[in-house]
Amino acid sequence: MVSNTIQFIYNNQICSIKNPDPNKTVLDYIRNDLKKIGTKEGCAEGGCGACTVVLGELKNSKLIYKSINSCISFLPSLNGKHLILVENLMSKKNQLHPIQEAMVKFHGSQCGFCTPGFIMSLFAMYKNFKKFNNEIIEETLSGNLCRCTGYRPIIEAAKSLNNKKDNDHFKKDQIKIIKLLKKINNNEIEISYKDKKYFSPKSINSLKKIIKKNPNAHFLSGGTDLSLEVTKLRGEIKNIISLNSVKELNFVKKNKNFIEIGAGVSLYDFQNIIKSHYLDFYNILKRYGSVQIRNVGTISGNIATASPIGDTLPLLLSLDAVVKINNKSGLEIIPLNKFFISYRKTKLKKGDFVYSVKIPINKKNYFRAYKISKRFDDDISTVCASFNFLIKNKRIIDAKIAYGGMSEIPKRATLIEKKLNNSVFSEELFLNAQNLIEDDFSPIDDMRASKNYRIEIARNLLMKFFYEINTNSNIRIN
Ligand SMILES: Cc1cc2nc3c(=O)[nH]c(=O)nc-3n(C[C@H](O)[C@H](O)[C@H](O)COP(=O)(O)OP(=O)(O)OC[C@H]3O[C@@H](n4cnc5c(N)ncnc54)[C@H](O)[C@@H]3O)c2cc1C
Ligand code: FES
Ligand code: FES
Repeated sequence: MVSNTIQFIYNNQICSIKNPDPNKTVLDYIRNDLKKIGTKEGCAEGGCGACTVVLGELKNSKLIYKSINSCISFLPSLNGKHLILVENLMSKKNQLHPIQEAMVKFHGSQCGFCTPGFIMSLFAMYKNFKKFNNEIIEETLSGNLCRCTGYRPIIEAAKSLNNKKDNDHFKKDQIKIIKLLKKINNNEIEISYKDKKYFSPKSINSLKKIIKKNPNAHFLSGGTDLSLEVTKLRGEIKNIISLNSVKELNFVKKNKNFIEIGAGVSLYDFQNIIKSHYLDFYNILKRYGSVQIRNVGTISGNIATASPIGDTLPLLLSLDAVVKINNKSGLEIIPLNKFFISYRKTKLKKGDFVYSVKIPINKKNYFRAYKISKRFDDDISTVCASFNFLIKNKRIIDAKIAYGGMSEIPKRATLIEKKLNNSVFSEELFLNAQNLIEDDFSPIDDMRASKNYRIEIARNLLMKFFYEINTNSNIRIN
């Protein structure tokens, strides 16, 4: 069944909106239509967390809660979800939620502008985890900025939640919400609003039919890049095809040789899958945007943007990943190394979409990755470097090195690799190889860093890799 009406739960009721504007953000809907102004707009680009709201959704018949940036989410993405705002947290008897109580008790708020966003991030944490250690709390809060209180009281408030039993009114209403979500979840969506269209197919078959009829439509995954065309550049996106409800794209396949990640898998889910295989991939992902960004953003979206500073790209390049793309003739496998053509250009032609990415697993290899950015959390890379080495008896058998932020596309350091391969793993070799950075790359000056800074950092990261492997230690100040 195809429907032109999105449906979601708000205030324990089903809300239906017929043909909504597909470019309207969830934040605009909340503030201007629902007239709920607790949720704030700070940056309108996913960077400050003031607009954080929580979406409840069903996963294997269980309710999970995701914090999102409502400023960069389009309204139709609410379809099939439970929308929870800061105004919904108080009980019917006007009692503060345990998170609100903790923020009051620990003086977690001053001017209050950021506070609803912090509360909502903490709410998602409170619902999803049983215990909250420092790592969970820091990750939870990494996408929320506060300019006056400082973070210590907020962290103390979060820690105090460990002693509270989750017995809030959401827990009590859980069965009711699950029933309502099951009731509304089933239709494919096709929206027509003035000259704009929005499609949310549920299967690859209908996706292909929609692409055929709308060859110029933009694919939407997490929207953490695409939506900024509307919220930041003040443009319009006429035709959107959302990939988020296509069941066949939401998969993870694993065996002892590789992991394959479908285009629909979020970066947050991916970080927990890759952790046991490549710890540094996980460490980089934990610094990728924020939980709000990773809850919706996808690895396929990151690949499709082909950004020279896309964080997963150098890592995937050094791991020799391949991309499966769906084009007119079916599924085609392209090594990622050959996928990026020039600045933000890839091998994808009109109507082609990324189906999955396949990552080889090499347990015998040394894998390390480093991200250099101005801020530790929630910042884009200045330079990102990734190293994947097979070393036997002190001899380098296979060196794979890739950098982001060093040229118009993320790419492998082929001359350095050549110099290192079949040589003895030694400090002298790496000191010599450093000098080839400028033969492999010619970075530019921009607002993030100068050309000279990038070259110096890239050289130092090569040496850092050497010293970490040579001394079997981590040289980090996390
Ligand atoms: C606050 C903030 C912080 C960020 N931090 C980081 C960071 O630390 N590191 C980093 O690398 N990036 C970062 N980004 C950038 C952004 O998260 C990435 O570009 C992201 O990976 C895009 O993925 P998405 O699923 O959101 O893609 P979308 O925004 O949905 O799409 C991006 C582009 O790819 C196309 N596309 C999406 N999916 C497919 C597909 N399956 N097949 C073909 N085309 C497709 C879309 O049409 C669009 O052109 C940040 C962005 C924001 C707003
Ligand atoms: S308004 Fe800053 S993240 Fe949305
Ligand atoms: S309390 Fe003022 S910005 Fe956080």
